[in-house]
Amino acid sequence: MSGNRTFTMIKPDAVKANNIGNILQMINAAGFKIVAMKYTKLSKDLAGAFYEVHKERPFYGELVDFMSSGSIIAAILEKDNAVEDFRKLIGATNPAEAEEGTIRKKYASSVGENAVHGSDSDENAKIEGDFFFSMSERF
Ligand code: RTP
Ligand code: MG
Repeated sequence: MSGNRTFTMIKPDAVKANNIGNILQMINAAGFKIVAMKYTKLSKDLAGAFYEVHKERPFYGELVDFMSSGSIIAAILEKDNAVEDFRKLIGATNPAEAEEGTIRKKYASSVGENAVHGSDSDENAKIEGDFFFSMSERF
């Protein structure tokens, strides 16, 4: 059975481009409820820890530099079938391959700077939500 929560970040490129409001609007319009949210900035160490699963990938260094380059929004979202439906809403990792109407098609500029993060499994949604939010920060 699939879970009803996922985790997202609005990445530094989208924050710098003043697209926080546009992206949150698309998230709400798609039926996701915001359960937790914060505006914050990752240090290099924290970005490295968050993306630890990608440590051996060639883009890891670039990814950590980018994710610590500016402020982000982190949020936990609730909806039936949250992980899969949110991945559909954000579109392919590479915006050039993302479908029309997806967040990355609209607001991402490249495979590295792709506007939003979405968890890829229920297990990772829980790990990633726990990385940013305590119990008293969820509503
Ligand atoms: P995310 O985790 O951010 O939701 O993205 P994703 O699942 O679609 O992609 P993933 O394979 O998990 O990669 C994580 C992030 O690393 C950057 N990336 N750069 N230069 C590259 O070839 C490359 N490939 C991935 C992207 O920021 C990607 O979202
Ligand atoms: Mg991923």
